[in-house]
Amino acid sequence: MDKMIDAFSEKAKRYLKSVDSRKVFPAPEDVEKMKFLDMPLQDHPVEPLEVINELDKFGSPATVASTGSRYFGFVIGGASPAPLAANLLAGVWDQNAGIEAASPVSSFIETVCRKWLTDILKLPPETEAGFVTGATMANFAGLAAARHALLKKAGWDVENDGLFNAPPIQVIVGEEVHVSVLKALSMLGLGRNKVTKVPADAQGRMTVNLIPEYSEPTLICVQAGNVNTGSFDPISEICEMASSSDAWVHADGAFGLWAAVSPRYAHLCEGIHKADSWATDAHKWLNVPYDSGIVFVRDKEHLISSMSTDAAYLISGAKREPFHYVPELSRRARGVEIWAALRSLGKKGLASLIESNCDNALLFAKKLSAAGYRILNDVVLNQVLVSFGDPETTKRVIRRVQEDGTCWCGGTEWQGKTAMRISVSSWRTTENDVEESSDAIIRIADEENGKSG
Ligand SMILES: Cc1ncc(COP(=O)(O)O)c(C=O)c1O
Repeated sequence: MDKMIDAFSEKAKRYLKSVDSRKVFPAPEDVEKMKFLDMPLQDHPVEPLEVINELDKFGSPATVASTGSRYFGFVIGGASPAPLAANLLAGVWDQNAGIEAASPVSSFIETVCRKWLTDILKLPPETEAGFVTGATMANFAGLAAARHALLKKAGWDVENDGLFNAPPIQVIVGEEVHVSVLKALSMLGLGRNKVTKVPADAQGRMTVNLIPEYSEPTLICVQAGNVNTGSFDPISEICEMASSSDAWVHADGAFGLWAAVSPRYAHLCEGIHKADSWATDAHKWLNVPYDSGIVFVRDKEHLISSMSTDAAYLISGAKREPFHYVPELSRRARGVEIWAALRSLGKKGLASLIESNCDNALLFAKKLSAAGYRILNDVVLNQVLVSFGDPETTKRVIRRVQEDGTCWCGGTEWQGKTAMRISVSSWRTTENDVEESSDAIIRIADEENGKSG
C-alpha cells in the first residue's frame, strides 16, 4: 500500500503542476490513446500499482483541465487545495456517511457544516441541510419536501398514498428556469408540462406582475443565478407575495446562493431567507471536488418526512441521522470537503473568491466589448454572454477557441441569440488568465470576422 500511495502522490503532483501549462481540452491524440483502457478484461488480478500507472498514462492526458485557471465552461469550480486533500483523506477513511453508527465523524462534520453554511448564507438558523450529489438532487430533495408539506396541508399523505387522486399542486416557475428543476419536478410526478411558466425579462428574471392568480396548494420556484446571465429573480418580492398565501417557495441557487457571503453581492440574494427551501452546489463556487450539492429546508420535518426510511437494522438513535435528509442511504462523506473549504477560506476568503471571480467576469466583458464584440447580458455576477456576429460565426469562434486550448468556453442560445458563455468560477483564475484568454478569443474572433492583420 505504501508504494502505491507514494506512486499516486508523485502522479498527483505532476498532474497538478501541468494543469495550467497544457491545452485545456485534451488533444485528439490523447483522447485516442485513452481507448487503451478498453482492453479485454483479463482473468487474473493485476498489481494495483500497474492499474494506477495505466490510469495515469492513458487517463490523465485525456482529462479536461477544468481544475486549471483558464477553464470557463458550464459553471465548474476548480478543486482548491484544502478540500482536495480532504477529499483524498476522506477516500482513505472510506466512511459510509449515510448512517451515524457507521461514521460518527462524517455525521458530526455535517452538523458543523449545516451550522456554518446557514450562518454564512444567511438562512434561518433552524434550517436543516442534506448533502447530495449536486444541485439537481438538491432541487429534487427540496421540491420533495415542498410536495410533502403542501399535500399534507391539503390532507393528503403523498409518501404513502402516492399521487393518484391527490389534490393537484400548481407549480409556478420562470420561463428561464433551469432544466434541473423541471427534471426534479418530473421525477416527483409533478410533470414538466404541468408547470405555469412566467415570462422573463431580457436578463431571464421572472416578471413578478405576470405571475398569475393562484389557488392552493402552490409551489413557486425562484432562481438565484441564471445559468446563462447570472441574473436573479426578484426573490424578495416573490417571497413577500407567497407569504400572504400559503405557497411554498423553493430557491434554486446552484451557484448564485454563494453571492450571499459577499458584502458586494449579497444584495442579489435579498429576501432569499424568506423562502422555504434552497438548493446549491459546493462543487461550483465553493470549489470542492465533484460531486457535492446541498439541499436546505427551513422546517426539517418536511425534509425528513419526504426522505427518511426505516428498517430494524438501521439503528436510529437520538443523534442526527444523515440518511433522513437525502435520497441516498449509503454515500460518501461529502461534508468533509465542505468543512475543509470553509475552514481554510474563512468568511473573508470565501467572499474574496466570489468577488475576484466577478471582477474577472467584468474584465472579460470589458476586453471583449472594447474589441468590438457584443456582451448580451448585464454582468451582475460571474457569467458573461458574448456574440461574435451572426450565429454561424459565433459557433465557429467557440469551436476554434476550444481547439486552440488557451482556455475553454462553451456555447449557448440566449433568447434567440447564439452566444459564447464564459463562467468564472475557479479559485485559480487570475487577471493574467483573463488577459491571456481574452487575447486568444479576440485573435480568433477577429480572424473569423476578417479583422486580423
Ligand atoms: C441554476 C442551476 N441549477 C441547477 C444546476 C444543476 O446543477 P448540478 O449539475 O450540480 O446538478 C445548475 C448547473 O449549472 C444551475 O446553474
